[in-house]
Amino acid sequence: MTDPIEEQPGGIIQRYRTRLPVPVGARLIHINEGATPLVHLPFMSDVSRNIRVYAKCEGLNPTGSFKDRGMTVAMTMAVHENSRAVICASTGNTSASAAAYAARAGVMAFVVIPDGKIALGKLAQAMMHGAKVIQIDGDFDAAMEMVKRIPEEADVTLVNSVNPYRLHGQKTAAFEIIDQLGRAPDYHFLPVGNAGNISAYWMGYGEYADSGLSDTKPRMIGCQAAGAAPFISGHPIEEPETIATAIRIGNPQSWELAQAAVDESRGCFKSSTDNEILKSQKSLADRSGIFCEPASAVSVAGLQVDMTGGRIPDDSLVVCTLTGHGLKDPNVAIQQSPDPFRLSDRSGELRSFILDAIG
Ligand code: F0G
Repeated sequence: MTDPIEEQPGGIIQRYRTRLPVPVGARLIHINEGATPLVHLPFMSDVSRNIRVYAKCEGLNPTGSFKDRGMTVAMTMAVHENSRAVICASTGNTSASAAAYAARAGVMAFVVIPDGKIALGKLAQAMMHGAKVIQIDGDFDAAMEMVKRIPEEADVTLVNSVNPYRLHGQKTAAFEIIDQLGRAPDYHFLPVGNAGNISAYWMGYGEYADSGLSDTKPRMIGCQAAGAAPFISGHPIEEPETIATAIRIGNPQSWELAQAAVDESRGCFKSSTDNEILKSQKSLADRSGIFCEPASAVSVAGLQVDMTGGRIPDDSLVVCTLTGHGLKDPNVAIQQSPDPFRLSDRSGELRSFILDAIG
């Protein structure tokens, strides 16, 4: 007898089935990803100029990042093609997502990560979901070179975003934004690391426009960390460095696709310093109640500079993708916040502390 709950469809494949290359009859590997909230950011908006800014909160996916949209499709297809194992290089989020979806599918996951350079929460996820975690001395770019060779040598599917199914899954975020706003935004700011996601969004906006579901497409603004900004340099860079470890990447694999997204949309790439990134992460947390990881905040940091510089025209609708949840990286969050207060339980101490604080 089939379990009615287990049989319930869900996730982005079910919702956007006709727009995804998943064959009828394929066993869907999903954890109900997608349908993430689009939240208004009053502190970034400008009422007098009618500029409205929204955050697409991708940290609310099952493993806490946008990777789940791509992983449900990549894993479904890997299982459909009888693959028994998957592999990825990762700065953390891909490994967490691959580990979870592999667990769901009952296949083995190998994740190759830069030693000491992934956020604690992401490492915990990969370990808890039972992936084989392999740490290397090199950075993400070195890990990527290692894993790319494996599918030729063993029956293992690569689930990095060079796997085209990943981008198909991730393009559904653009569909959702248009479904949620009733139109495409004028500007879309998002973090760029390995450059798959910006390429996927552009594909999604293009497909909805081609189908007549949107009249316009946004300018794509690719945001990088200043210490890991190959698109600003115009060439791959050695030894990328940033506190936003998720985007600590010097040699993006989807270079041409990302460049095309920016060129065709008449957008641009921009970079922000680690200080600017942390400031935006903190503002999002303490002014709008949204806790994203540092790499996600680079989109808001990029927008902040354009708002201050008056480069966003009046009446614009702007979306920033917040790619991953803040809980992924508790260390960076704690480091930039004031220490907790310490009070004894002597009567009156808490009361006078509160009365002082509220003034
Ligand atoms: N934001 C977060 C939180 C990420 O984890 C990543 C990429 C990006 C942005 C950039 O997206 O690579 O498509 O340009 N993380 C990958 C990983 C590289 O291994 O988890 P991209």
